[in-house]
Amino acid sequence: MAVEIIETVRSMQARSDAWRSAGETIALVPTMGAFHEAHLSLMREGRRRADRLVVSLFVNPTQFGPGEDYDAYPRDLEADLKAAEGIGLDVLFHPSAGEMYPVGYATSVEVEELTETLCGPSRPGHFRGVATVVAKLFQAVRPHVAVFGEKDFQQLAVIRRMAADLHFDIEIVGVPIVREEDGLAMSSRNMYLSADERKTALSLSRSLDVARRMIADGERGALAIVERLRKEIESAGPCTIDYVSVADPETMAHKTTVDGPVLVVLAVKVGRARLIDNTVVAPPASP
Ligand code: PAJ
Repeated sequence: MAVEIIETVRSMQARSDAWRSAGETIALVPTMGAFHEAHLSLMREGRRRADRLVVSLFVNPTQFGPGEDYDAYPRDLEADLKAAEGIGLDVLFHPSAGEMYPVGYATSVEVEELTETLCGPSRPGHFRGVATVVAKLFQAVRPHVAVFGEKDFQQLAVIRRMAADLHFDIEIVGVPIVREEDGLAMSSRNMYLSADERKTALSLSRSLDVARRMIADGERGALAIVERLRKEIESAGPCTIDYVSVADPETMAHKTTVDGPVLVVLAVKVGRARLIDNTVVAPPASP
């Protein structure tokens, strides 16, 4: 059966209200399209967690900075509908930019502190755009559960904070990173990579393995870990490191010592693709 596509906020709200009145629960999976296996795994999680599954597909202009890839971002609705066949979507919510941001639109959502490190400084306004569009998607779809990927670990933290602070009565679910067989984290932006760049990009996940091994072997200095990872990445091929950090998985603040579970997280530009990856590592309990 063909998936129903809804393009306006009003008709999406009416559909969700009808489901809610009938006592049905709703899961939302927000996406920007160009579906790959990780998107599908989020959708399956949503499918399991509620009676109705809504996937939103909206390439959100407010989260792209000047010079970023908003215009180039892959858009292929037919291919996406085909990829999601068999998942059992009830609705694909697919609004236009004018529907989400009508003329005169002037309100945005700013999450402080969590956005001051990692991707925050290098992408000014990015998390404001994300928090704003996700708040608006929550209002349009009125879900009980919303599903996000841990690949965008800081984004997930920002959304959890925003949902709590604005009293959204929505359970936020995080799904583990889905990887290609060789370790590369799946991303819509991987399609920008040439064959050589694709090889260089493997240094991201490889360096996370190095961090895991260092911590297992007793390394507790964040700086030593960061330096070792930078070398691993720089020696892999032409690329520009945005950041490599050992951070607190709750606050996103940089850490100097590994004194509990830490988020090892990095962003690297390979060719024109800005790639991110992360892992949470806990030091082994001392004997
Ligand atoms: P997008 O990049 O399309 O990602 C949609 C969802 O898929 C996000 O929750 C993201 O974390 C998750 N995801 C992507 N690659 C993943 C991977 N390899 N493993 C696990 N999860 C993965 O993230 C966005 O869109 C936007 O910022 C959005 C939240 C839709 C707001 O516009």
